[in-house]
Amino acid sequence: MTAPSTTPPDTTTAADRPSSPTGPPPSDVAVSVRDVYKVFGRRPVEAIRRLEQGASRDDVKVLGTAAVIDASFDVRRGEIFVVMGLSGSGKSTLIRMLNGLWKPTSGHVLVGGTDLAATDAKQLRALRRRSVSMVFQHFALLPHRTVLDNAAYPLEIQGVAKAERREKARRALDLVGLGGWEDSLPSQLSGGMRQRVGLARALAADTDVLLMDEAFSALDPLIRREMQEQLLDLQQRLGKTIVFITHDLNEAMHLGDRIAVMRDGRIVQIGTAEQILSDPANDYVAQFVADVDRTRVLTASSVMVRPAVVVPVSGGPRQASRAMREAQVSAAYVVDRQRVLHGIVRDDDAVAALRAGKETIGDLVHDGVAPVSPDTPLAEIFAPAAESSLPVPVTDADGRLVGVVPRVTLLEAMVPADQPRTGEIDLGTAPDAVASTEGGAA
Ligand SMILES: Nc1ncnc2c1ncn2[C@@H]1O[C@H](COP(=O)(O)OP(=O)(O)OP(=O)(O)O)[C@@H](O)[C@H]1O
Ligand SMILES: [Mg+2]
Repeated sequence: MTAPSTTPPDTTTAADRPSSPTGPPPSDVAVSVRDVYKVFGRRPVEAIRRLEQGASRDDVKVLGTAAVIDASFDVRRGEIFVVMGLSGSGKSTLIRMLNGLWKPTSGHVLVGGTDLAATDAKQLRALRRRSVSMVFQHFALLPHRTVLDNAAYPLEIQGVAKAERREKARRALDLVGLGGWEDSLPSQLSGGMRQRVGLARALAADTDVLLMDEAFSALDPLIRREMQEQLLDLQQRLGKTIVFITHDLNEAMHLGDRIAVMRDGRIVQIGTAEQILSDPANDYVAQFVADVDRTRVLTASSVMVRPAVVVPVSGGPRQASRAMREAQVSAAYVVDRQRVLHGIVRDDDAVAALRAGKETIGDLVHDGVAPVSPDTPLAEIFAPAAESSLPVPVTDADGRLVGVVPRVTLLEAMVPADQPRTGEIDLGTAPDAVASTEGGAA
């Protein structure tokens, strides 16, 4: 069996790899999937034997449908883990095994360290109640019940007392922005609002893990975008672990802390949006991500470089002008001992100060181009980059200079990293896009 190809070694952390099959999973792992297969059909065991030897889904067709083949990954606590793939790639089958709705044909699923295969029906129900809830694409609301009772429904099934479940449901409805709609019926709500009730229902259950299968796919684009923002916001506030299924690449890139790309039942790559964009595991993934708006996914931190010249604010004009001359630049970044960025100093100012016999460059410092934060999307750096001949400085939350983004780096980042090896993929537009953007460069 081959492990899914994952991230480059330098960025791989323990949680990228499935935890050891013998020891308990590390406490930062919420869901662990190990060597999981799901084969529908008459001869699943024989099918798995052949799949283990590298056979494809098509090869074993006569034995059964291999919906999920050799899946292994860990979902960390508090992350949004997106499973992305075309229709039929096995996403829904995979997610249904995460809450025990379906049993793997072979392999193991652990939720909070508990192996689902080792639980009886009663334990499984308890685990679902406490640990995992599911949001479906079609909202599955009960038409004759109010919004409040719909949100409280899973708690009602669990036998939670009326006052308590209504209180929890009310809080969950507030969280999704539906405060005031408690007494309405689902038919009085828009599609987006109904999906919010579905989300509130999952939140009211207050489980650690939320499973969302194409939860936003039926919504129109603007509402969908709103729901994505709301989900990100909720996730930040509540710290839930979310497994989110989508076939929409932009949604995956926008929401996912990490993304698993599935193809024909197999996970072909797991990584951050940036890793998948800049280091696709194979031609299939490269082709899949070719159309992504890279400037919205890639951030300053992924392209920034070391600044050519940095001078101390307490230093003298001689030191500053020498540094600029050696690096052949006409301005330098000025920082203090903590590396907090104070601004820039220009070569002519430094030379004038040197002639005038000044001791320090302190009063020569200009603001220069406004710094951006490491997580600023490249799309938002084009404007400042166009205004300045200096690279755009990148500072952390404490104002420290952590890198700079030269304009040329910005333009280079637009070109997909992995030029595909086959002639199938047309990247003809990428260099043009760069050339036309370059018009703005000085
Ligand atoms: N109960 C079942 N019995 C037989 N085959 C099934 C069953 N459920 C799913 N399959 C098959 O397993 C494969 C994976 O299906 P799955 O629904 O997991 O894909 P998906 O990625 O969720 O697709 P979609 O994007 O269309 O929802 C498909 O070939 C499907 O036909
Ligand atoms: Mg599906």
